Amino acid sequence: MNAPEILTNGVSETPLFSGDLISPAVAAILPESYTIRPMCKSDYARGFLDVLRVLTTVGDITESQWDERYKWMETQGKGAYYLLVVDDGTRIVGTGALIVERKFIHNLGLVGHIEDIAVAKDQQGKKLGLKIIRALDFIAEKVGCYKSILDCSEANEGFYVKCGFKRAGLEMAHYY
Ligand code: ACO
Repeated sequence: MNAPEILTNGVSETPLFSGDLISPAVAAILPESYTIRPMCKSDYARGFLDVLRVLTTVGDITESQWDERYKWMETQGKGAYYLLVVDDGTRIVGTGALIVERKFIHNLGLVGHIEDIAVAKDQQGKKLGLKIIRALDFIAEKVGCYKSILDCSEANEGFYVKCGFKRAGLEMAHYY
């Protein structure tokens, strides 16, 4: 079953996941005119990819490529991909993702992976990043994750400590 429709700037749309998974406590403390909600297909036109550009290289993604990836997330990725956005009423100003991994260990445990946290340059320092993490934590708990983990640079460690995370382990990588 598809998630119930939500209103994104006056237009009714089916979001990537149910709006019931958005923390009411976080939604209640956003600045006026700002909303936090599941990502929607129309967010291509609202600057979603521009926000991600503060994080890393995104590339020139056409709307049809976006549509294809979105479709994958809402079908094969259903129940695993939770991308949310903060919208200031005119454009996307922040985003974050929770990817839910289903394991055999820990009694078929679920682990949340926090990925691709980004706040537009001119909106940083307003506690939006903190709210995005709180909102992802809320989803992780609600869907049954026993923990959430993430990788970050040393430069961002302080931010995640402020969000309640602690250093655990060491990241290693193979690039292909
Ligand atoms: N180092 C130490 N403390 C920090 C940092 C940092 N790099 N960034 C923010 N903080 C502190 C703030 O001072 C604030 O502290 P306070 O509560 O004592 O005032 C607290 O963390 C919350 O800060 P926010 O205002 O919520 O941070 P912001 O909205 O600017 O978002 C973010 C932080 C997401 C890192 C933003 O600066 C950003 O988009 N940076 C570029 C992209 C990026 O590096 N993303 C993270 C990649 S890692 C990943 O995605 C898993």
